[in-house]
Formats: sequence, structure tokens, C-alpha cells
Amino acid sequence: MIPAAGLATRFLPASKAVPKELFPVVDKPALQYIVEEAASAGISDVLLITGRGKSSMVDHFDRRLDLEAQLEAKGDHDRLEAVRRPAELASIHSSRQPEMLGLGHAVLCAEDHVGDSPFAVLLGDDLIDERDPALPRMLDLQAASGGIVVLLLEVPWDEVHKYGVASVEETQDPDVVRVTGLVEKPPREEAPSNLIVVGRYVLPAAIFDAIRKTPPGSGGEIQLTDAMALMINEGVPVRGVVFRGRRYDTGQPEGYLKTLVQLACSHPDIGPVIREWLVEYVEQELKG
Ligand code: UTP
Repeated sequence: MIPAAGLATRFLPASKAVPKELFPVVDKPALQYIVEEAASAGISDVLLITGRGKSSMVDHFDRRLDLEAQLEAKGDHDRLEAVRRPAELASIHSSRQPEMLGLGHAVLCAEDHVGDSPFAVLLGDDLIDERDPALPRMLDLQAASGGIVVLLLEVPWDEVHKYGVASVEETQDPDVVRVTGLVEKPPREEAPSNLIVVGRYVLPAAIFDAIRKTPPGSGGEIQLTDAMALMINEGVPVRGVVFRGRRYDTGQPEGYLKTLVQLACSHPDIGPVIREWLVEYVEQELKG
């Protein structure tokens, strides 16, 4: 499931009428990267949690037969393939979050669709580079031994207050830790580590009961982190896969702009031109 019902206040006014999940990242919307990541990990059923004014997100994954006919008539096969691709990735469903009560509450909106099976939650704010996939490892770990699997990333200590932070114990596998506690947006001096929870989770269906038992937390919202912390206290095993690959934070303007530059530079078609231009531009800026 992809929770995408939030108000995206950090992007206002750009996000007033266009959901931030549809902002372009080089040549496709951020959300398409997320659905592609899920599809590459073998997930064929995707539930988008949407809110008011966000149905255009679902439209992106529909066929556009009129457009396809025009491109076909022109013989523009590359664009035709690009336009068809979103609809071919997975079966896309959507559900509404009636009130923006927090990420935990958004996850609860998936209960009817998910049923009793474990499921993955992918947040649109975190793009994981397709060259460094993490989800298959997380799914395998959850399938092998149940419980919750989260993705963790080491960040500088002065950034921990912005994220959910994990207390961890090492395991025999250097890329996997046992998570013994989770805290949402702690002040630096109270943070148990500098390992933050990135927006990928593999959760058992028992999370729904835990969310129901979770009172509003940080920011007055029902936090997924708090529901997971409750399950840790109930003895549910929680493992963290430590991510050492490329991750892009597109949830706020500065990170979004950096992501555009990074992914434009590695794009097979426009990358060489952009890199050359960027070097010239930076040289000019430095000269003042
Ligand atoms: P954020 O806390 O980043 O909120 O939510 P936001 O709305 O995206 O952005 P800001 O903070 O207002 O700028 C993390 C993810 O959880 C979803 C968001 O859409 C985002 O993908 N979310 C959050 C919901 O689906 N529903 C909620 O009630 C809250």
C-alpha cells in the first residue's frame, strides 16, 4: 500500500491542486518510481490511500486510449510505450482516508483490502534507487520469520529529530538488526541511535489492531511508529534491514530539488548534457 493522502504542507502552494506524488522527477511522477519499485519486487497489487483532490494519482495508472492512438498514428513508439507503462506495472486500487489523522490512520484504511496477509507499505517521500533495491530482502525476511521488517538508514545526529528513530541490537548478519524500540521525532539528546526508519515497511495484519490501540502522538497524529512500538512491547519481533544504497528524500522542497539534480545526472539520455551544464553553471556561480 502507498499512503498518499497527506496535505503536503511543506510544498504549498505547489501542492495546492497537484498532489506532490505527481510532481515530476526528471521524466515521470514520483509515484511511478514507487509503483515500479513495488512491481520489481514482485508485488502485483497496489493500494493507493488517497484524499480529497487526489484522484489524478489513480488516473496516471489508467490507460489513455486517445493519447495512445495519436502516438501510434504518428509512429512515436518510445512515447507510446512510456504512456502505456504505468498501466502495465500492477493492478492499482485506491481507497480514501476520510480525515488526515496521520500515517498510522492511513495504514488502517488498507485493512479491508489487505485482509490477513502481511503487506508492504511504501511512502512516496522516499525514493530508493532502482540500482539498490531493498524491498525484496525485506519481503524475504518477513516471509522467513514473520513479525515486522523496517528499513533503516544511518543519518548525521543533527538530523534525527526529523524522523522515527530505532534502538537496535546487532545480529549475526551485518545488514540486519533487531529493533528493540522506536521513537518518533526525538530530540537529539534523547535519540537512541542515528538509525532512522525510511519509508518502507513489511507489516503483519496484526498491525491494524495495534493502530486501533494507538492514541494520537507526535503532531497530534496517529503514528505508525507508535503502533509498531506497541507491538515491540507485546513481544512481536521487529527486524531492521540497514540500507546502504542510494535513497532520495522527495518529501520536502530542498530534498526534492537535490533528487531532480541527482537523477537527471544519471539519466541515460539527458544525463551527459545535464552534467556538463551543471559544471559550467556551478563554476559561474562560484565566480559570483
Ligand atoms: P508526512 O508526515 O510527510 O505528511 O506523511 P505530508 O502530508 O506528506 O507532508 P507535510 O508534512 O504536510 O509537508 C508521510 C506520508 O504519509 C502520508 C503522506 O501522504 C505521506 O506519503 N499520510 C500522512 C497520509 O496518507 N495520511 C495522513 O493522515 C498523513
